[in-house]
Amino acid sequence: MEFAVAAEGARIPLLGLGTYELRGRTCTRIVEQALRLGYRHIDTAEMYDNEHEVGDGLRASGVKRDDVFVTTKIWPSHFSPPSLERAAKESLVRLRLSEVDLLLLHWPNPQVPLAETLGALAKVKREGLARHIGVSNFNVALLDEATRLSPEPLACNQIEVQPFLDQTKIVSACRRHGLVVVAYSPIARGQAARDPVLIEIGKAHGKSPVQVCLRWLVQQDIVVIPRTAKMERLESNGAIFDFTLTDAEMERVGRLAHPRGRVVNYSYSGTPQWD
Ligand SMILES: NC(=O)c1ccc[n+]([C@@H]2O[C@H](COP(=O)([O-])OP(=O)(O)OC[C@H]3O[C@@H](n4cnc5c(N)ncnc54)[C@H](OP(=O)(O)O)[C@@H]3O)[C@@H](O)[C@H]2O)c1
Repeated sequence: MEFAVAAEGARIPLLGLGTYELRGRTCTRIVEQALRLGYRHIDTAEMYDNEHEVGDGLRASGVKRDDVFVTTKIWPSHFSPPSLERAAKESLVRLRLSEVDLLLLHWPNPQVPLAETLGALAKVKREGLARHIGVSNFNVALLDEATRLSPEPLACNQIEVQPFLDQTKIVSACRRHGLVVVAYSPIARGQAARDPVLIEIGKAHGKSPVQVCLRWLVQQDIVVIPRTAKMERLESNGAIFDFTLTDAEMERVGRLAHPRGRVVNYSYSGTPQWD
């Protein structure tokens, strides 16, 4: 297993399993099977309403707790300090874990002072409920603010990164602050499978366009958390460490970005605040 390493010390497996919209028995069986196939990183959130099933999958896999990196996220309506602490504990109860490896603020919430939220997140870490803490969907300005205000160092910013979206600025900001970039929607919700350039590059390597897409990210030291509800896709989505893209291929994929390339247009505050 290959890792991305944050300046504060977190070793985050470069390949993880996304679980958004995976529910019930499907969720449990996919998590279990992913772990059996060698995935060592599972991404969930209180908002996904599947932490219980993720916990079931972890147990059913038989993989030792310390060998799996588990991330969950606090929903912004729980960012006041007492709510945040309660939400973190409730996630652990649902997962049936004593601590998660990474606890994230799911989206910025301008209604609660960031210093208070980060103070509560740091407290949860110091109490041993999370090994590492971080943020998600933070733009450059918010990340600058968060790294300045946080009493404990932040390990990552989880953001949308995929070839059709130019995220150069925020990725550079994460690196400047020593944060690992975790790419969500890394295959652009399946669009990567249909892209002619990714298909063509894949043919040269005997790989699928989705594998080329994920390889392009991990080759930049960006963690990927693709999601699938299909057993047969789990293995191929993970087979991205046995080939290397050339510099020319990396640049070619980088040129696929276009202004309407973002797939997640949601914003908790109602105001998109990407730039
Ligand atoms: N922090 C945040 O705000 C945030 C936001 C969005 C997502 N996330 C996290 O990131 C994870 C991944 O993002 P995502 O779920 O939005 O999108 P994604 O992983 O880019 O794409 C998932 C979609 O791609 C399809 N797919 C998977 N493998 C495929 C393959 N080999 N060929 C063709 N299609 C394939 C899946 O369909 P099938 O199920 O049919 O295979 C599914 O519809 C989420 O599950 C979640 O854990 C976090």
